[in-house]
Amino acid sequence: MKILLLGKNGQVGWELQRSLAPLGELLALDRHSQHGCGDLANLQGLAQTVQTVHPDVIVNAAAYTAVDQAESEPGLARRINADAPAVLAEEAARCGALLVHYSTDYVFDGSGSRPWAEPDAPAPLNVYGQTKLEGEQAIQAAGPNHLILRTSWVYAARGGNFAKTMIRLAGERDTLSVVSDQFGAPTGADLLADITAHAIRQVLQRPADAGLYHVAASGETSWFEYAKYVIAQWNRAQTATNIIATAVRAVPTSSFPTAATRPVNSRLDSTLFQATFGLALPHWQAGVARMLAEIRPQIK
Ligand SMILES: NC(=O)c1ccc[n+]([C@@H]2O[C@H](COP(=O)([O-])OP(=O)(O)OC[C@H]3O[C@@H](n4cnc5c(N)ncnc54)[C@H](OP(=O)(O)O)[C@@H]3O)[C@@H](O)[C@H]2O)c1
Repeated sequence: MKILLLGKNGQVGWELQRSLAPLGELLALDRHSQHGCGDLANLQGLAQTVQTVHPDVIVNAAAYTAVDQAESEPGLARRINADAPAVLAEEAARCGALLVHYSTDYVFDGSGSRPWAEPDAPAPLNVYGQTKLEGEQAIQAAGPNHLILRTSWVYAARGGNFAKTMIRLAGERDTLSVVSDQFGAPTGADLLADITAHAIRQVLQRPADAGLYHVAASGETSWFEYAKYVIAQWNRAQTATNIIATAVRAVPTSSFPTAATRPVNSRLDSTLFQATFGLALPHWQAGVARMLAEIRPQIK
């Protein structure tokens, strides 16, 4: 089986390089790759890559993810998040490949407090969310066998993340102010990559299971509670002299004005995914604790 992975160096893309490797022959590209065009802004090059590689599975982990910057670059965000997935979907349909793509809780307006389920009506609040929704719709319209996985609050041990920022700032300040009125579930890129590999195997055997699913770690939290958990877990592994004594203060979203409006309710209901694929999504704290254990040697 031939798998084409795009966005190999993003949080999820990096983990997919590991989780997809046992499934078959993996060609992993990023925007700078020389052995095939992996630049999602180059629509012609992208189409050519799929035609040349003729993969059985295409996994698109690349995206324009700079949520605030997207407000001033809507054209580029749309090209990468909507036009490129449209090209991938058309080419996947043409060569009979399964297309796997990721989307976001930002397709919703964040109203209410109930976790969003797949049939709920999207209503994005910002350019990023709008272009990600257009990407989903383009894939569905082109009609290849596809898996669209909407997820939330993605983190990885590699690169920068919220937890590392909190630990760094806690070492510099007496008090940290963290938003307490946005709710979701931090979801590990490693978990997403692993469940992607499982889901690919199942959909290849049972194409009827293809479609759009919500996939997030179980449980829920706010950024404020997330920060407190990170600092408490961090302190648990430190010697008495290295304990971070920073106070964490809950503040409303309005304390940090940003270019893009963010949904307050980012909870995703992953029931359908778990039932369809026979998988249990672990609690968010388990993944975050593991990530902290992995980054500890980098930060000490
Ligand atoms: N991060 C989150 O909290 C979150 C939440 C919900 C859903 N998602 C979705 O999950 C998926 C994976 O996100 P992630 O967290 O892994 O994002 P990420 O770490 O920001 O990775 C995105 C990757 O896309 C690449 N990229 C950007 N423009 C490109 C282009 N023109 N051509 C090729 N590659 C390009 C980036 O490359 P460069 O590094 O070179 O720019 C980066 O490697 C995305 O579909 C995202 O929308 C993410």
